[in-house]
Amino acid sequence: MRIPKFDRASKSLFVPVGSSAVAVTCRRGFFSAHSPGIMTKRVTVTRRLRFNAAHRVFNPQFSDSENEATFGKCNNPNWHGHNYTLDVSVEGPIDESTGYVIDLGKLGAIVEREVVDMVDHRNFNIDVPFMQSTIPTAENIVVAFWGILVPAVAPARLRRLVLWETENNYVEYSGD
Ligand code: NI
Repeated sequence: MRIPKFDRASKSLFVPVGSSAVAVTCRRGFFSAHSPGIMTKRVTVTRRLRFNAAHRVFNPQFSDSENEATFGKCNNPNWHGHNYTLDVSVEGPIDESTGYVIDLGKLGAIVEREVVDMVDHRNFNIDVPFMQSTIPTAENIVVAFWGILVPAVAPARLRRLVLWETENNYVEYSGD
């Protein structure tokens, strides 16, 4: 790690981060720049992924007319599909040696492997084991994803999932 340089004239600490530099204002001199808080800020970072999947939204305990009345077009027995967008947010301290909370490329690869590869171009009702016996609404899908991703992204902390089912409709879950 390169040693930060303290500029006495401007009382700023310049820390090289990649090709750019971050200036940390320092009122009392060099050492106060290392006081707790300055380099341990917790930041939330987000990776966006996309997948396509089919489903039928219905309750097998309802009659046909109840399903039709409750779910409308989403109850189509011959399935329908969506182009989903998933925003995965994790929170953590900034690593001093990289300036990252987490490498977003690595986060994307984890989510791709653990979740997207399991559902992309598949049918939630019949192809996805963790969605069996669950009505595959966006609400239930995002909660199932949460359970898989919490351990998968550790030690980063999963902060929020946002699942877009259409341009107009999205659901959000933070583990509550
Ligand atoms: Ni649908």
